[in-house]
Amino acid sequence: MNKSDVMNNILNIKPFAPNLGAVITNVDLSNDINDEELKGIRDAFHKFQVLFFQNQSEISPENHIKLGRYFGDLHIHPAAPKMKNYPQIFEIITDKNSKIANGAEDFHSDVSCDIEPPLGTMLQLHILPECGGDTMFANMYMAYEALSNQMQKFLSDLKASHESVHFYSGRYKTETNGESKTEYPSAIHPVIRTHPETGKKAIFVNKFFTTRILGLEPQESKFILNFLFSHIEKTEFQIRYRWNKNDMAFWDNRCTIHKALWDYFPHERKGRRVTIKGDIPV
Ligand code: SIN
Repeated sequence: MNKSDVMNNILNIKPFAPNLGAVITNVDLSNDINDEELKGIRDAFHKFQVLFFQNQSEISPENHIKLGRYFGDLHIHPAAPKMKNYPQIFEIITDKNSKIANGAEDFHSDVSCDIEPPLGTMLQLHILPECGGDTMFANMYMAYEALSNQMQKFLSDLKASHESVHFYSGRYKTETNGESKTEYPSAIHPVIRTHPETGKKAIFVNKFFTTRILGLEPQESKFILNFLFSHIEKTEFQIRYRWNKNDMAFWDNRCTIHKALWDYFPHERKGRRVTIKGDIPV
């Protein structure tokens, strides 16, 4: 049986768009997942890069953690406030008192400033605004493939610094009343990474965390990063997902970037996410 047979026999799965994503409608994530379903989900995750599980009920924090662990050990966010009793859970909460919305500023790959950035993220939203609050995703394999051979060659030997102090310090100190003793992570990663499962190459820089390219003059680094930041955000690499209550999105941080739209202020949007540990990008 080939990959797509396994996926199609076990999972009711439909591509979301030709460039990225798929919707799965027949897996109840609040129940145990059997081996066949797990294999189908893993294969679909590698093929489609972002999965949207629909027809879900609200998953308890315990079950959300259990669900994430099917795909690996869980990553703990280095700076964000932890949910009481559940440090693995990152609460996504935006309402009329919010000054910022998590993930809204720019396209990013979650916590790419870590030495081992998360493999993937599973986000379920329980409260949605009447309209708005969509999440955009973009395909970083496609972004790499759209570059000329010469540009691919030029970028293939480069490494970039990913930092977080500029981004996390103001944001999370305020939220924890200045009590944070956080050490803000930073890491050096290849500009082009090879996905450990698919072997495909993807651009791995983002506006949130990537600050400079090593070995280039500051002006050169700025110029190349600005080029890449605008290249990876081209609409042809993107999708825009409109959430239903309790949908669970599962995205691959190694080959996609995403951005949450904050167009619904002062309305509420709430949910919880877990991230799964990844490995050192190569
Ligand atoms: C995030 O960047 O994890 C937040 C995504 C979202 O709220 O849609």
